[in-house]
Amino acid sequence: MARRYYLVCIFFVLIFPMLLSYIAKRGSIPIGRNLGSKTIRSTRSFSIYSSTSAKSGGNSSKSFGTSASTPTPSSTSSSAATNYDNSIHSLKNYDVAVAYQPKDREESNLFKKKNNNKRSPALESPTGEDNLFVSKQFDDGYITLGVADGVGGWSEAGYDSSAISRELCASMKSKFESLTDRSNLSPKQLLTFAFEEITNSSKVEIGGTTACLGILTPDKKLKVANLGDSWCGLFRNYQLINETNFQTHNFNTPYQLAKIPRQIVRQAEIEGRRYIIDSPSMADEYEWDLQKGDVIMFATDGVTDNVIPKDIEIFLKDQIEGQGDSLKNVANSFVKEVVKVSKDPNFPSAFAQELSRLTGQKYLGGKADDITIVLVRVQ
Ligand SMILES: *[C@@H]1O[C@H](CO)[C@@H](O)[C@H](O)[C@H]1NC(C)=O
Ligand SMILES: *[C@@H]1O[C@H](CO)[C@@H](O)[C@H](O)[C@H]1NC(C)=O
Ligand SMILES: *[C@@H]1O[C@H](CO)[C@@H](O)[C@H](O)[C@H]1NC(C)=O
Repeated sequence: MARRYYLVCIFFVLIFPMLLSYIAKRGSIPIGRNLGSKTIRSTRSFSIYSSTSAKSGGNSSKSFGTSASTPTPSSTSSSAATNYDNSIHSLKNYDVAVAYQPKDREESNLFKKKNNNKRSPALESPTGEDNLFVSKQFDDGYITLGVADGVGGWSEAGYDSSAISRELCASMKSKFESLTDRSNLSPKQLLTFAFEEITNSSKVEIGGTTACLGILTPDKKLKVANLGDSWCGLFRNYQLINETNFQTHNFNTPYQLAKIPRQIVRQAEIEGRRYIIDSPSMADEYEWDLQKGDVIMFATDGVTDNVIPKDIEIFLKDQIEGQGDSLKNVANSFVKEVVKVSKDPNFPSAFAQELSRLTGQKYLGGKADDITIVLVRVQ
């Protein structure tokens, strides 16, 4: 209790003023989402204080603190990859394109030290801590696809923070492809299976991830399951008509599927912290009817924290209607555009607007993050 009080004091006396002066100097919002954390660069929250005393800090969350009892990671990391076969793009009824760009990252010294100077896998991953998947085409006309966003921070603690989203996507793709009857499967069932598989698998040591996935059917329906703050939107005549809701516990703390070894959970409990470990059963489900010409976007929060649906509508109208561009080019130039605004300190990003609304102070600036989309056009 005394220690906790001490930490809270440290936060207000030392760190909070530093944070404020940093924000003032930059004239923009800090990079990363964990405002209560002592390092500005740290990312989304994946643990919360269970003590009430910390609530006065605006539900400030804390990045994962290593302790002596943290087990040394084994070297089970798979190679960096996306779960997408570049040769497929035009599927029966549906055109599919993907695009992504990871944010600029720094090497984690702790990861290097623990893993014999190996480069951190999140640095090697073409999608950073995000990942995506698109299933192969089969004659039955069913396709599954989606995105997952690994919650950062574990890399600094010496783990492969990109593993959980990558392996979750790989599992959803391969399970779907291995089925003989895909017609009765819901995306939530697929997510539930895949999460159980990675919970069992040694390929994922530790981590947390969001997931937003869909199943496209031959009779032009889209079934979606969403857990966390990734997003899926359906555009008709360049207007957003259906979308998923963001699921968050608090500002900057999305619902997340997590795999965390028991001794680390216990250590956190001793320190008065609690990891957020949500279940696939908490995913929201949607079913939307599709028409020829509809555009569907799956996106991680690197997109939705920067641009609002209106921006996306205008972009799609310009690119598709105006220039008649291929879907691949549309996806690529969209991501390029989002990356540009995410680095612009004067851009009124969705994240900055939300922060302004919550604090009553004016924030400006894009939010640097991994940016990933899967785009579909109905034929
Ligand atoms: C995970 O492991 C449990 C216990 O060994 C097993 O019953 C279950 O079928 C496994 N699940 C998957 C999806 O591999
Ligand atoms: C999706 O949007 C269409 C068109 O606005 C609407 O008719 C339909 O009810 C929406 N579907 C859901 C599930 O909200
Ligand atoms: C803080 O967390 C509690 C529950 O954990 C929630 O009810 C409250 O709205 C949160 N406050 C803010 C400012 O996010």
